[in-house]
Amino acid sequence: MIVPTAALARLAYGRYAIGGYNINNLEQILGLFKGCIDSRAPFILQISKGARTYADKGMLEAMISRAKDMYPDAVFAVHLDHGDEKTCYDCIESGFYSSVMIDDSHEPFKENAAATKRVVEKAHPKGISVEAELGRLGGVEEHVTVDEGSAFLTNPDEAVQFVKETGCDLLACAIGTSHGAYKFKGRQSLHFDILEAIKKKIPGTPIVMHGSSSVPEEEVRRINAAGGKLDPSARGVDENDYLAAAKLGVTKINIDTDGRLVWTRVHREYFRDHPEEFDLRPPGKIFVQEYAKFVAQKNEKLGSAGKLPEIRQALQKAKS
Ligand code: 13P
Repeated sequence: MIVPTAALARLAYGRYAIGGYNINNLEQILGLFKGCIDSRAPFILQISKGARTYADKGMLEAMISRAKDMYPDAVFAVHLDHGDEKTCYDCIESGFYSSVMIDDSHEPFKENAAATKRVVEKAHPKGISVEAELGRLGGVEEHVTVDEGSAFLTNPDEAVQFVKETGCDLLACAIGTSHGAYKFKGRQSLHFDILEAIKKKIPGTPIVMHGSSSVPEEEVRRINAAGGKLDPSARGVDENDYLAAAKLGVTKINIDTDGRLVWTRVHREYFRDHPEEFDLRPPGKIFVQEYAKFVAQKNEKLGSAGKLPEIRQALQKAKS
């Protein structure tokens, strides 16, 4: 069942976070649905602008629709991740999306707010939620690269003004994370002080945490042992911080890189161990299982695991 993103966020707010998982292909879709059903968790399936080009937007929608029929118990939202204005309008028109993200965080406040407001005006009449971003994360996300010097944290006072001016439903805030595998060198953690200040200023507005992959050491080690050349000092967000952030209003936690690492590990190890093989299906099948396991474990850390029955009940009650 595809549900509004804002409805899921309302039910989770202040208690647990919902995983925003990026998908690009068939195997990720199958693994994501399986992992969320196995862990009985609601989820947000994210499609980026790049994914819509890579797999063809219609092809992705068809695969998701089929997965929805295969897993009738799944409760999820479909979200455009890091959209520009044009892509947001395309998704709003399509009628398939529960929410869109307008990412103009690279623009000054005024332009960012104006674009977000225009998207909100088009999305809300159709019951579609809007996520916007204030502050600037470092790292590489699709076509955008932000070096460390250009990244800056969200200003809590600006956050109030931004939400008030734009009417956006969810706000992505920069609280120390960055996109990609190379987030932190050594031990670094989230800026809980900033998060707390933002929550106080915009109580009730779900906060989104981008760049939330944990980049597990063991995953990087296995990839490199199978021929990869990832920087072994790569570090991500401590998974044990997810729930603490959720209690401070972080309701959607975005995870892409960790899923890519699972894909890379499975395929590198498979072809290292089966050098005579050239069938793509055996490693594909292993990946679906491994990705499902990975998603189920993440949902445990996010606190969303086991929440399906209460979510279904609450949504039913709201309908009647
Ligand atoms: P990661 O690169 O940490 O997985 O973040 C993904 C993300 O924020 C997508 O919007």
